[in-house]
Formats: sequence, structure tokens, C-alpha cells
Amino acid sequence: MPENRIRLSSLRDRIVPAEEAAALIGDGMIVGMSGFTRAGEAKAVPMALAARANAAHARGEPLRITLITGASLGNDLDKQMAEAHLLSRRIPFQSDPALRKAINAGEVMFVDQHLSETVEHLRTNQLGPIDVAVIEAVGITASGGIIPTTSVGNSATFAILAKKVIVEINLTQPAELEGLHDIYIPTRRPFREPIPVVTPESRVGLPFIPVDPEKIAAIVVTRKLDSASNVLPPDPETAAIAGHLMAFLKHEVKLGRMTNRLQPLQAGIGTIANAVMHGFIESPFSDLTMYSEVLQDSTFDLFDAGKLNFASGSSITLSKPKYDQVMPRITDYKSRLILRPQEISNHPEIIRRLGLIGINTALEFDLYGNVNSTHVGGTHMMNGIGGSGDFARNAYLSVFVTKSIAKGGALSSVVPMVSHVDHTEHDVDILVTEVGLADLRELAPRERARVVIANCVHPLYRDALSDYFERATARGGHTPHIIEEALAWHVRAREEGTMLPEMTRKIA
Ligand code: COA
Repeated sequence: MPENRIRLSSLRDRIVPAEEAAALIGDGMIVGMSGFTRAGEAKAVPMALAARANAAHARGEPLRITLITGASLGNDLDKQMAEAHLLSRRIPFQSDPALRKAINAGEVMFVDQHLSETVEHLRTNQLGPIDVAVIEAVGITASGGIIPTTSVGNSATFAILAKKVIVEINLTQPAELEGLHDIYIPTRRPFREPIPVVTPESRVGLPFIPVDPEKIAAIVVTRKLDSASNVLPPDPETAAIAGHLMAFLKHEVKLGRMTNRLQPLQAGIGTIANAVMHGFIESPFSDLTMYSEVLQDSTFDLFDAGKLNFASGSSITLSKPKYDQVMPRITDYKSRLILRPQEISNHPEIIRRLGLIGINTALEFDLYGNVNSTHVGGTHMMNGIGGSGDFARNAYLSVFVTKSIAKGGALSSVVPMVSHVDHTEHDVDILVTEVGLADLRELAPRERARVVIANCVHPLYRDALSDYFERATARGGHTPHIIEEALAWHVRAREEGTMLPEMTRKIA
């Protein structure tokens, strides 16, 4: 292994096989692992741990842990650990079908948490202490500092607070990633100083995670790549959503509320948010900046199109072709990129200060602008709230996007009442589907409903939603509802497989 990957020579004899490092983790422990939206996760130790759990359970021995990460893991690690029944508790985000199944079956206790908050809970002993932190690194500095790879997530605080640290040095992660990270740890409350990030470009911390080298109990050398992002390319619906949003932003500029540089942009995870960001390529906007969480393909497409000047995030998650294009040229992008701890990328103080345009995705929203981003049918976890709440509550403009229908039209994403609330009407300014855009700002609930019905709902469901609203309004109320009927669409979907009323099904 190149010596410059472990510059503190006294640590070089701590290199061990993954199985030996994984043996430091015992039943009942709280483990903090690097990894944020399939980027920069520790890879070999969790895999070895899942294998150990399978073997232990076959012998009738217990091995279950609480696993805390930045966000979701790649390389099917959440799947392997879930299927090995290793996870008793999982915090704060995931996006894996096998783990989702274990969560919805009640086997894994999933704590779905705002991504900015986890480390605050650790610092104040509401959670923890962390027994072992497992952190993927590009290398270790001469002072023992850990240089993260393609994500920072919660890694810094995990390593600083853990009793023991295992470092995975990944030789496939380019050494040139060094210098990309900005590790800033806020001071203790209640006497915390303002966090000095005043523009997306602000560098306020260290380029490595400072830890006591004595705590580094094992080093594992790995060569496994990050998983490719699984987002799909833009399609006609997501292009239409982007078109509506661009037209709206142009109008805001015309009204003098912003310039063509807009405000710093945040874009959520997934196919729809990534596709919407592509809409900026053909837009009149320029000299854009991002203060976001996950930097997806669209960030680099916007750099290459000359639209984007700077991007701050907590991870870089790319498709395979984009990864192959970007990583060999990472030094070309480095001066325009920063990766920060997720409590800083998602910090309410900074989001409010910078006046972000936050663009996140809803599974469904209702007549009045309440948004459900997490629960299918009101009960079954999809991925988690992630950072969407951090941004939605504090953004200058909080935008939620979604296609107006799902599952071929069997589900409407615009419903009388959401079956679970992640973002209340108070945190939602703009709703966009491929049908159109609803600007809810400064509108009372009855006005909001009319704008949503006119602009967002799919034609298949428009009459039914309008009929519900008119009958609800006849009953009165500031936020009219027919309480006994408000979730009838969800009940019909569960019992009949579709939200469509029977008479409309023939037309569909
Ligand atoms: N009811 C039930 N399921 C729905 C639905 C609805 N109203 N709308 C969409 N879905 C399903 C889709 O059918 C699809 O299912 P599939 O995986 O079985 O094909 C799935 O949800 C994902 O939808 P898709 O249209 O591909 O959107 P996406 O990839 O953009 O993901 C979210 C959308 C909401 C799941 C995703 O953005 C998310 O997890 N958000 C919450 C966290 C977050 O916003 N983080 C960002 C903060 S920076």
C-alpha cells in the first residue's frame, strides 16, 4: 500500500483483515458507520460483520447492533445486514428494499430522523455512546487525522465520540479527494458561536477528521467501489415538472424577487429531483450555486454546461457513466466543490441565512399542502424523511415535486388528506407535478385547495377531488374536511388496488 495513505507511520502495524476488525464489534453495541446516500460507506467491515452474524445465529448466539450512519449505504450492505438479522435498531435513513421489509415487519426498529439532528443527540447523550466507529478514508494524515472519501455524513462526530475507531482505507477512492472536505464541529450549546458559513463557498473547518490516533484500533485496506446511483434519466413527466418550475422562477425574477443567479439551490434525492435539476441546463439562469446534501449527476452536468459556479454538499453519488467521467478529473472540479458534515450541510441556521430554494420530492400531498414523503398508504416506510425537513422548514422557497399519479394511475399523488405528514402546510410554498405548479404562498387553506385542484391533480382524479372539496366546504371550517371520508381514497387503494372511483375506472 502506498505509504502516503497512512502518513502516521506508527499506525501502519494496525492493518488487519476485515474479519479481525469486525470482531471488535459485539452484541448490543452501538456502531456508527460512514456512508451517505450510497457514497463513502465502510464496505469490508460491515460485510464481515454480516457474515459473522449469520455464523453466530446458526450457533444460536446473539449478535444484534444499533447501526447509525449518515444516510443510506451502497453495496447492498443494508440488505446484507438486514438479512443476517444483525440490526436491532437503524438510524437515521435507509433506502434498501430488504431493510425496508424488515422495518415494515417490525423486526428492525427504524428511527426516521432529520439528518441534521443525529449528532446533536449523540453529543448530549440522548443517544449513544458510540462503541465503535467504522469510517472509510482516502488516508490518514501525519497527525492521525482521517481523510474521508465521497461522503462526510456523520463520520466526523462518530469518530470523535467513539470509544474505538476502525478505518477502512479504500485504494480505489482517488487520493486527490483530499482537500475536498471541510470538517467543522459546532461548539457546545447553549453558548454556541454562530456557524461561520456565509456563502456556499465558505471554508470554515479542517480538511480531515481530527481524532486521537490511540483510538484507531484497526485499519482495513479495501478496493471496493461505491455503488452507482440508481436514479433513472429524465422522462416526459419530469421534464414537464422542470419546465413548470423554470417558468415560475423566471416570473419571480421578472417581479424583481431574485436575479438570474437565483438563490443557492438544494435538490433532494432520487430520480425526480435529479431530473428537475437538469431543467436548469436549458434555462436562462446562470452563475448558480448549490448548498445541498447529495450532489448527483445533475450537479456535474450543470458544471459542464457552465451554469453552476459552486456546489456544497455532504456526498457525491453518481451513476456509473458519470462516476467514470468525473472521478478521473476530480481535480478539475475540486476548487468548485466542498463536502461538509451533514449537520452543517443541513443546518437550519445556515439554510435560513443563505435563503435557499429547496426542491424535494413528495410521495403524496393534499389539498392544503401537507406533504407525505415517507409512508406508503400511511403505514409502510419507504426511505425516510432524510434532509427534506431540514430544508423545507428553513428554505426561502420550499418546493415539493412529484408525478401526479403513481403505479400507472392506480394512485393519485394529490389526495384529500395525506395519510402521513412529514412536512406540514406551514413548511410548503410551491407544489409541482407534470400537470402544473401551485404557488401556495400567502394563501389561506380554502384558496390553496382551489389552486392545487386547478394546477396539480391528474385529470383522472380532478373531478373527484373537486367534488370532495366542495362537499367539505359546505360543512364549513378553516380547513374544510369530511373527516370520515378524508382517507377513503387510501382505503380504496388498499382494498381494491386503486384510488380511482369505480365509475372512472372504465374511462381510465
Ligand atoms: N404512493 C405510493 N407510492 C408512490 C407514490 C404514492 N403517491 N408516488 C410514488 N410512489 C412510488 C413509485 O411508484 C416508486 O415505486 P417503485 O420504487 O416501486 O417503482 C417509488 O415511490 C419512488 O418513486 P419515484 O417516482 O421513482 O421517485 P424518486 O426516486 O424521486 O423518489 C421519494 C421519491 C419520495 C421516495 C424520495 O425522494 C425520498 O425518499 N424522499 C424522502 C427523503 C428526501 O426527500 N431526502 C432528500 C433531502 S435532501
